Amino acid sequence: MRLSEGNVRVLIVGNGGREHALAWKLLQSPQMQQVVCVPGNGGTANLDRCSNLPLSIDDFEGIARFALVHNIALIVVGPELPLALGITDYLKQQHLTVFGPTCEGAQIESSKAWAKDLMQQAGIPTAKADVFTDAESAKAYVRSHGAPLVIKADGLAAGKGVTVASTIDQAVAAIEACFEGQFGAAGDRVVIEECLTGQEVSILAVTDGLTIRPLLPAQDYKRIGEGDTGENTGGMGAYAPAPIVTPALMARIQSEILEPAIAALQERHIDYRGVLYAGLMITPTGDPKVIEFNCRFGDPETQAILPLLETPIEKILLACAQRKLEALPEIEWKPGASACVVIASEGYPDRFTKGAEITGIEQAEAAGANVFQAGTQRKQDMLLTDGGRVLGVTAVGGEFGQAIDQAYAAVNRIQFEGMYYRKDIGDRVRTVGSTPN
Ligand code: AMP
Ligand code: GLY
Repeated sequence: MRLSEGNVRVLIVGNGGREHALAWKLLQSPQMQQVVCVPGNGGTANLDRCSNLPLSIDDFEGIARFALVHNIALIVVGPELPLALGITDYLKQQHLTVFGPTCEGAQIESSKAWAKDLMQQAGIPTAKADVFTDAESAKAYVRSHGAPLVIKADGLAAGKGVTVASTIDQAVAAIEACFEGQFGAAGDRVVIEECLTGQEVSILAVTDGLTIRPLLPAQDYKRIGEGDTGENTGGMGAYAPAPIVTPALMARIQSEILEPAIAALQERHIDYRGVLYAGLMITPTGDPKVIEFNCRFGDPETQAILPLLETPIEKILLACAQRKLEALPEIEWKPGASACVVIASEGYPDRFTKGAEITGIEQAEAAGANVFQAGTQRKQDMLLTDGGRVLGVTAVGGEFGQAIDQAYAAVNRIQFEGMYYRKDIGDRVRTVGSTPN
């Protein structure tokens, strides 16, 4: 299919702010005829030339059938779960074009022990770690090493499987929770690792399995409370480009982390096409170390990064899916900075209620922001909350201060009962001047 004909149809799997941002960005391209989101949300339902298809994200057969009948040129998979379950393997068997790794490649996120092994073999800098398959030896290790230590359930645990234990008692409790089945089979193996300090950075890189190129570096806010306190969440805000990642540091990340990771995947005969997301700690000595790899776009980082992207996104995604990334000209970015403030339902990441009416989105967008929707649902003429993270309000400015102020000005125009957001997103970069990108 030629891309110049304005006839490209893309299907996106997922229903978060990340998927809304991907759909919005794709639709800026004149080549895009239609975007279909499975299942999508209240935001994607409202985009021009975008529609929601009410299938489950693990209904691979249904997704393939739709894609074949409707001539879908590309399927972009947002979340890790369908990737780990083999959606890409299935769709490729149907001769569909997919952005997202196969289930073998997705192990880089779905098994922390597997990822650790790959890093150790490839000589990628990361926290020292050991893997345990029974509680007694894990507890003995903790008692002999002392705290702090990080205890991780091996498998996917919806962001809840990691405990940064500052005492031996906390570490022991985390080990018991894993082996007692709190995370199901994900906790049958436990990775115990050295506790790193420093600033965390998210490097989302696109790859076709041969070539790998980083997008703008981002930082996200994982904790629910201001000052990075309280429980871990999916992410309460983000900004890009992260100034801590200088060009020299990015060059090191490329040569010490991204390229060795791709080489190690190739050595294992894994055809990895999609995003390789490296969650890094920039340690006090300035060295980058991998905390984790993810096999997908980060959320909310993607909501902050995509508004700055100049190169048409479908070209990047297709180049990866078709193994032609090397031939793609350098990825171009708009100058300036971007900030995303996530608005959540009160109680998130624990129990929260749904169904509150959301108002003020048009006014927020009139204030110069993009409001990406996550946990929302459209009912007749009303937009209702339908999840923990509800909206991601993103603004772009010449400088961080401007982007952040504009994002918060837009947040202030939005209302729903029990809305909660952090008021300190971007504080640490507020005074950084404009960035050339
Ligand atoms: P993960 O699910 O591996 O991203 O871990 C969740 C969060 O736990 C990370 O974003 C870090 O804040 C923290 N974390 C994970 N591993 C380590 C480590 N080795 N040292 C310090 N903090 C860590
Ligand atoms: N923002 C963290 C993640 O996407 O995993």
